[in-house]
Amino acid sequence: MVDQSKLPFSLEFLVCENFMDVAKAIKDMKVRGAPAIGAAAAYGLALAAYKSKAVTVDELINDLKKACAILKSTRPTAINLFWALDRVMNRALSVRGSVKEIVKAVIDEANRIAEEDIELNKRLGKIGAGLIDDGDVILTHCNAGALATVGYGTALGVIRAAVEEGKRVRVFATETRPKLQGARLTVFELVKDEIPVTLITDNMVGYCMYKGIIDKVIVGADRVLADGHVINKIGTYTIAVLAKNHGVSFYVAAPSSSFDLKSKVTEVIIEERDPNEVRQVMGVQITLDEVNVFNPAFDITPPEYVTAIITERGIITAPFKENIRRLIL
Ligand code: MRU
Repeated sequence: MVDQSKLPFSLEFLVCENFMDVAKAIKDMKVRGAPAIGAAAAYGLALAAYKSKAVTVDELINDLKKACAILKSTRPTAINLFWALDRVMNRALSVRGSVKEIVKAVIDEANRIAEEDIELNKRLGKIGAGLIDDGDVILTHCNAGALATVGYGTALGVIRAAVEEGKRVRVFATETRPKLQGARLTVFELVKDEIPVTLITDNMVGYCMYKGIIDKVIVGADRVLADGHVINKIGTYTIAVLAKNHGVSFYVAAPSSSFDLKSKVTEVIIEERDPNEVRQVMGVQITLDEVNVFNPAFDITPPEYVTAIITERGIITAPFKENIRRLIL
């Protein structure tokens, strides 16, 4: 996998030899972004199957269950992680065959998840491109691009598809403190694709909207609930409130694998990460060591701030409860 912690200065690949390596890569955010960690975890389970010394089917299923629990414990918020692991595990449990056959089924399922993700993003991108006008300035937050998925991206997939249709779009990317996914990853992707991008710090969004610079917002999602609540990178909610206040459309690009139709909003665990991510910027200390820090990695945007959710199955608008049920169930 691409070691995303090294970007944008060096493009390095991390080789994972076993499922513990994959779990560590997800936890340490060497790989990040909801669909990307889902696919990585699926391959983690595939590695657990491939490397298992199990002789009987029961032993293999036991090994897989242990690996699955460890992979699930890496990050709590993005639903794709749980969705992908459950899907691979269910495939393993459904095979009525030998150890060898189960191992093959697990590897095949991981490959299918990865292949499907690229297809879904391309379909989602094409659908979303219909919402983009020639000349639009689009604000995006964090990184919902090729790096955050298996390829092409969700929010950046919509932008890529609009550009492929010949629309001239410009992107405003927020730097996305504390981990700088916008400054490091979104900028990297867009510069590489020669899509015009302007970097702003997170606290400049209000001024940009006040000045009328931003036409539309498109972000990704780590989880979309049945009633339309959107859980995404910390700072998304602030942008959504500002967008509503300024009459700017706020779009969420999310494949069906990012929907959680079971959890209530109060049940979603918002990951809190190492306080040093806030005390430092890219490892450089910017404050006193002893200062208290609050470091939630995600926030929750209520549905009334969302103009539409772009999925590979179509565009969902309010009333979200009914329309999500109709399209995603
Ligand atoms: O903490 P991260 O970098 O994994 O958070 C990623 C995001 O919040 C993305 O916006 C989200 O996963 C959508 S990616 C298509």
